[in-house]
Amino acid sequence: MDKRFAAVRGMHDVLPADMPLWHWLEACTRRVMGAYGYAEIRTPIVEKTALFARSIGAVTDIVEKEMYAFEDRSGEHLALRPENTAGCVRAGLQHGLLHNQIQRIWYSGPMFRHEKPQQGRYRQFYQIGAEVFGLDNPGVEAELILLAARLWRELGINHLVSLQLNTLGTLAERQVYRTQLINYLEQHRHALDADSQRRLTRNPLRVLDSKNPNTQQIVAAAPKLIDCLSTASREHFERVQYLLSENQLAFSINDQLVRGLDYYSHTVFEWLTDHLGAQSAVCGGGRYDDLVEQLGGRATPAAGWALGMERLLELLKLGTSTPPAQGIDLYIACLDAEAEAYCSRLAEQLRTAAPACSIVLHQGPGGLKQQLRRADRLGVRWTVIVGESELASQQLVLKPMRAQGEQRTLSALEIGALLSTGLP
Ligand code: HAM
Repeated sequence: MDKRFAAVRGMHDVLPADMPLWHWLEACTRRVMGAYGYAEIRTPIVEKTALFARSIGAVTDIVEKEMYAFEDRSGEHLALRPENTAGCVRAGLQHGLLHNQIQRIWYSGPMFRHEKPQQGRYRQFYQIGAEVFGLDNPGVEAELILLAARLWRELGINHLVSLQLNTLGTLAERQVYRTQLINYLEQHRHALDADSQRRLTRNPLRVLDSKNPNTQQIVAAAPKLIDCLSTASREHFERVQYLLSENQLAFSINDQLVRGLDYYSHTVFEWLTDHLGAQSAVCGGGRYDDLVEQLGGRATPAAGWALGMERLLELLKLGTSTPPAQGIDLYIACLDAEAEAYCSRLAEQLRTAAPACSIVLHQGPGGLKQQLRRADRLGVRWTVIVGESELASQQLVLKPMRAQGEQRTLSALEIGALLSTGLP
């Protein structure tokens, strides 16, 4: 092809051959979300840039370096959504879903971040997310985490991921800690990496999860946020851990886990894997009790998470479950131009009789051998062959391809009945 028209760097196609795995993930998600009483929401891919700057935080990588922000033809400052928590809060506020109400919602869809593309890191990627509004008890974080854990189990990947937890306390507690941390980091400023030096005064908590080994060494001896937390905040975090333990869910505490978005308070968590190289974060989230108010609503507690679908799909390939077989059930081979109209009617009749089956009608010229080869390439399970003699006798040959069973000669009605009860 002409390279000038190639896909945008970091944005990928999901081809038909990849779809069974995507559908499986989507179907499991829909089922598990339903099992916990979460309702789906769909919000626009484009929102006002200010929404993301205000919610994710002006001094974050996402807002500073990664947003697809632009001015539209009427001069509005818009951005492709880098995540969807902000969009959910915006939609909740705009439609009066949040005040004095409890909402459990979920979404899936594309997000956009102008990061350096590499394996498992894209500029357009898909997330599935869950958000809960209106509940401030630690049971909510436990519920959200258990929901994700159930998804991992259903998908056969629970042995490939591990859960890390931390608490960030309240805004006021973080402010006290912030001062302590800045004082400490200032003493080691010269030894910090350039990014951390830049963040030191603007967003010092982000220094805590720097990947730079020198910075990590300094951070290891830094004051701990947990020491600035009130009894209530500690108890909240302990209760989350207690509820997870009561459900036999394993986790570890990582006191350097601060997440890349600024809206969190209290519990934060991440599911990590060792199986995807550098991109180890599969799912992340936490409580964000201040965000609704920051976006102009009344104070409303909230919590949620989002998972990266591409990363999860890579894990599915290593997991213990396989997606249910998809594919074409029946191929109608048409050997005679005279039979074309009959075959077309037959295909419609069979689709009516067996709506759950997938039926492909041969189109265009081709002898029996060629048609069977085409059917084989599609991975069909059965073929019906219609030629001159079948047309005359109205008795059709049903031939197993990938399916187990004998070749049979049947009427169209009989084939419809067989298909509707599920051919082997
Ligand atoms: P996040 O940690 O920024 O959180 O993203 C969640 C997940 O999206 C990550 O764990 C990762 O699997 C995936 N992801 C992020 N960036 C990329 C990328 N460039 N390519 C591929 N996958 C990626 C959030 O977005 C929050 N909104 C989560 C949340 C919901 N917190 C509360 N509610």
